[in-house]
Amino acid sequence: MIPSTRCSDDPAALPIQTVFARACDPESSPHPDALRPAIVAELDRVPLSAVAALGPAVREWAAAERTRFAALFDTAESEGCAGVLMRRAALACAPLASLSGAWLQWMSEPGNFEEAISMGLLMLFAADVGAGHPRASRGSAYLSLMQHLRVAVHAHPASHLAQDRRIADQSFYLPAIALTMSRHPEVYQGEIIGLDLCLREAGVLPPLDGVRSRLPHVADWTALDPGLARTSDRAPAVEDARAVAAAFAEGAGPPGATAIDRGFAWAFDALRDWCDETYQELDAARDPAFEMAELVRSRAREASSYHGRYVVEGRPLKEWLTEACTDPVPFLAVLAGSRIIRPGRSGASSLTGRLLSERGPMFRVFPDEDVDTINRWIDALPADPGERAALKPPAHQPRRIRLRTVPETDTGRAPADLRQAYTYLMRRAMTPATRRYALRYVEEWLARSRFGMNSSDPALPAEPPAGGLRPWLLDQHDLHNDDFQHDQGVALPRRADVIDSTLQLAPTTLIDGAWLSGYTDYQLASTERGHFLFETYWDELGNGELNLNHPLIFRDALKDMGIDLPPTRSPEFAAWPDLWDQSFELPVYWLAVGRFPRTFEAEILGLNLAMELSGVGGSYRRARQSLREYGFSTLFVDIHNTIDNVATGHSAWAADAIDGYLTQQAPAARAEVWERIRTGYRSLNPPSGFWARTAARRA
Ligand SMILES: [Fe+2]
Ligand SMILES: [Fe+2]
Repeated sequence: MIPSTRCSDDPAALPIQTVFARACDPESSPHPDALRPAIVAELDRVPLSAVAALGPAVREWAAAERTRFAALFDTAESEGCAGVLMRRAALACAPLASLSGAWLQWMSEPGNFEEAISMGLLMLFAADVGAGHPRASRGSAYLSLMQHLRVAVHAHPASHLAQDRRIADQSFYLPAIALTMSRHPEVYQGEIIGLDLCLREAGVLPPLDGVRSRLPHVADWTALDPGLARTSDRAPAVEDARAVAAAFAEGAGPPGATAIDRGFAWAFDALRDWCDETYQELDAARDPAFEMAELVRSRAREASSYHGRYVVEGRPLKEWLTEACTDPVPFLAVLAGSRIIRPGRSGASSLTGRLLSERGPMFRVFPDEDVDTINRWIDALPADPGERAALKPPAHQPRRIRLRTVPETDTGRAPADLRQAYTYLMRRAMTPATRRYALRYVEEWLARSRFGMNSSDPALPAEPPAGGLRPWLLDQHDLHNDDFQHDQGVALPRRADVIDSTLQLAPTTLIDGAWLSGYTDYQLASTERGHFLFETYWDELGNGELNLNHPLIFRDALKDMGIDLPPTRSPEFAAWPDLWDQSFELPVYWLAVGRFPRTFEAEILGLNLAMELSGVGGSYRRARQSLREYGFSTLFVDIHNTIDNVATGHSAWAADAIDGYLTQQAPAARAEVWERIRTGYRSLNPPSGFWARTAARRA
């Protein structure tokens, strides 16, 4: 039974391609969730079954499917059309394989930075995006395969796949729903863990088996198996995913376990449906008439404008073509019998000869792959009209999939004050009112950061340095060192002042990396500059090792001072009486700007450089002296002075990310972009006087 939320005929429902493309947007903030009833209905459609039983079942099923597809490809090989099936299989798998692992993209959030499960998920995700290297995600590996097969014209960014008419709706169903869920981790955490585990258990997508056996060396097949590790020193990803699922089920109790089962069972069901439909499509595509029918259907509307004066078998060609928009079979039959076709002999047919030649009336109307499709169809046509008439048209017809939405209503309230904003923005979910608050907050903060920018304080130079930022970075490091040496004669702060200043840093430092949280988006995390930002975020949170997690190290440092704060995301934390209101100003800016990795990309790049450079060589070393003086742990400042270093550390990466960004700008745009980067740099410590705040309010 087709559930009421999944319909092919409701014009108000969203095409599944639209759902997919929207979920690819790193700034999509779909709350209240217009698709939630549809997604819940999809999850509920599948009977529950325990993961313990389903795990082996998925592996067995996937192995059997690979065998089935392998046999289909062997048959196609014997018919001379394995290449067609490889191309179609690559397209059918593209929406899922191009974003392999992306459903984990928002599972870490400032509110759970210190939690083992979210860090375990981040470790899985970091491997999926190939942290540390640009264009090294599992999806990037898939893009290379598509490029090799010359089917990548709509493949990048992945949202563009939604415009590829060669990809059936069914191929978007699983990734569209998984990615939509990924933008609501607060609702679907268990389900996402379950579906992720299912996909890793399944391994390489079965339709790709015939491609892998024919092209074993043109793709990174290890990367294309989400169950495998990316490097030889790691355990298989599926084992990590099992461990995370077990820990989540244990921590969240029966409802958590049920959510995992639900996500797993749904993904298994969706995989099976999709594989069946893809098998039918590939099987049908062995018949040359199948792709020819697709081609005619896709071009008939446009063609009907040019063929008004021709009459074929007593009927205007325009009418044949209009009909072919929905049913191309009758038109194909008359075309096969027409003068421009020599059945069985594409080389002698004027459709692909004279008409498409340089001087012909249809020059360049078809790209090469379409000409191949037409030639293949002509070559397969029997010369005998009776035999042609007896041919059965290809029966496979892909289904259209739409998801019903509910009207979105703005029910949430904006944060009442700074402290409430801090708590609200701890989570990825955001009401429209909170989103507006965040946007306004960032705009005001940046206006303040621009105020008097050229007149004072350490700032980025007025022009981008010709040789890049690295030499400037070393100069700044020297200055920090000079300041540190200069301060050696100055008395250290009192013990009580050290404790209080550490405490006031808590709202900021316990969300270390939050300004980069937008760069956990799967696609941004693997770009040339985004990979620097994601890896920095990944380092701040300890690379999956809790003893290296900066927020946890800082929390331990506070405990060392006798301060035991509530969980950062709790309202009690924001209400902590010993924390000043001002101590929430900067972290709320971090939390807010992190929501807009594209809108404020230039500013985030500048802020990131300021942040990573701020203590290196100077204030971290000074802080170390103060902490040591009173017997407190220095781990937090020690680790930052090394990991943020200006040669190979975070501040170097921050500079490289900016240099790379600038090289991609058009010459006329560079000055404006540089100003935005400078503003971002200054936004770590903007002026706070009356006139600066007035300028911000006016902005
Ligand atoms: Fe850090
Ligand atoms: Fe850092």
